[in-house]
Amino acid sequence: MPEEKQKDATAGEFDRREFFVKLGLGSLGIAAAGTAVFAYQFMSPNVLYEPSPIVNAGRPEGYALDSVTLDVNSGIYLIRSKEGFFALSAVCTHLGCLTTWKPELGIIACPCHGSKFRREGEKIEGPAPKPLPWLRTWISDEGDLMVDRSTVIRPMEFVRV
Ligand code: FES
Repeated sequence: MPEEKQKDATAGEFDRREFFVKLGLGSLGIAAAGTAVFAYQFMSPNVLYEPSPIVNAGRPEGYALDSVTLDVNSGIYLIRSKEGFFALSAVCTHLGCLTTWKPELGIIACPCHGSKFRREGEKIEGPAPKPLPWLRTWISDEGDLMVDRSTVIRPMEFVRV
């Protein structure tokens, strides 16, 4: 009888030992998986993916003569004047608010601190330190108006169609 009790005690201790071994191995496995994930993130290039600065503004004939069209998504104005097409950044040069075209006044106005600009981007009044920049504009091989938001050009360089 006492021998049987000792057998049970040994079996119970063995089960406990096996349990702790499995628990330890499981913990090591989880730690190894976490280390592998962090190592993968560390080794991966830390790249910030931004949208392309090139905007396809569509067909030139879609713009009426003497029109100012704000593309809110890309933050540009596409303007068709009698001299040709040009694109302006719609981002205020003061603190970066998105400006709006005021057709009743014929000006571009910033809603944040009141800067005003002519249709050609020159500053009229307000705290903006610089005019709205002209952006490189061209006609693609397919005949679409293209604007490069990352390239500022000299004013009065019109695209004629
Ligand atoms: S952000 Fe346009 S005037 Fe201040």
